[in-house]
Amino acid sequence: MKTSKYSGFYKLSIRERQSEVAEFATLTEEEKETICRNGALSLDAADRMIENAVGIMPVPLGVAVNFCINGKDYVIPMATEEPSVIAAASNMARICRGNGGFQTSNTGAMMIAQIQAVNVSDVHAARLRILENKKRLIEIANAKDPFLIQVGGGMKDLEVRVVETALGKMVVTHILVDTKDAMGANTVNTMAEALAPLIEELTGGKVYLRILSNLADQRLARARVEIDKEELGGEAVVDAIISAYAFAEADPYRAATHNKGIMNGIDAVVLATGNDTRAIESGAHAYAARTGQYTTLTTWEKTKNGNLAGCIELPMAVGLVGGATKVHPVAKLAVKILGVQSAVELGEVIACVGLAQNLGAMKALATEGIQRGHMSLHGKNVAAMAGVPQDMADAVIQQMISEKAVRIDRAKEIMKELTEKKK
Ligand code: MEV
Repeated sequence: MKTSKYSGFYKLSIRERQSEVAEFATLTEEEKETICRNGALSLDAADRMIENAVGIMPVPLGVAVNFCINGKDYVIPMATEEPSVIAAASNMARICRGNGGFQTSNTGAMMIAQIQAVNVSDVHAARLRILENKKRLIEIANAKDPFLIQVGGGMKDLEVRVVETALGKMVVTHILVDTKDAMGANTVNTMAEALAPLIEELTGGKVYLRILSNLADQRLARARVEIDKEELGGEAVVDAIISAYAFAEADPYRAATHNKGIMNGIDAVVLATGNDTRAIESGAHAYAARTGQYTTLTTWEKTKNGNLAGCIELPMAVGLVGGATKVHPVAKLAVKILGVQSAVELGEVIACVGLAQNLGAMKALATEGIQRGHMSLHGKNVAAMAGVPQDMADAVIQQMISEKAVRIDRAKEIMKELTEKKK
């Protein structure tokens, strides 16, 4: 079995990269063709997935390499339109390997659905009446999904909150459902709807909303990593990164951008595997604001030896069964390439990518700045837009970068100068 450790993966041609991934994940020829093919998702399939379908919007699919998580090697499919994201994740995963890579844990796949009861006169007594009927409520909910029960999932518990609102007190019941390998939206929503009549009876009120909460704080994925200070360029870089973290932790304006960088990596894997990017985004940001002040999803500290220790913890409602993950041919392959056995394993891998992405951004920001890395890919696009021929592209890009003038007009001028020189 190949490891995910590569140096210069980006220097391979797209065909060579496909072969490496195919070998790593033992893909069949047909599967290999599917990832290479534009239009792997047919119009018919698209028409079955959404309403009013008129076409397909392809996004580049890449792989992050070098990830070692709990001692296991992963090649991680990422779908993103943003340059530098996959390179940064791969580079950071490489420097994280020295100390054994990433370590992960999770809280299990417990999803929350909320049932809102209004017009309840005795809210506190109603809360206790609901709690007293926990067994009955669990029976009703679990009758809705016998398969989930068979595999050990189902509604396990409930919590009842009295929520003060502009319209008075509401009794809000949270059902806690272990959704196993499903994201579970349909399951928990069906259960919440099935429980509404009994909740109305028990509260004497009126039930309105019955819907999952994306603040899936009983479904957390966690990852941590320790990076040798020498791998980062010395203790001064560790200090600079910790200072960048302290800034983000204290200031919501910076925290929003810090977390955006994390989500660059997270969303790309979520999308590649056909999961719900919006659910993950809303869960992440709500979790980041759970204390009342919006802050970072990661923490960064210095260890006793002067190394850098990073942690991430966030809601991770992703699944392997159901939805686009099982329908979209590329998403199915992404799951195969990942080689994950369960939804919680997928969630942990995604958390590691978020942590690596954050490290990459902070290392760049705290040292040379973000633009140099961005500029080489941006330069490629600019050169192509300026019509620079392939044999001149590298020289034009290098000169634009050294002049810090990565622009179409400058690319055209340099191209002209080089052509003159050649004559
Ligand atoms: C850009 O997509 C992401 C960054 O802005 C993240 C950050 O500032 O930490 C570079």
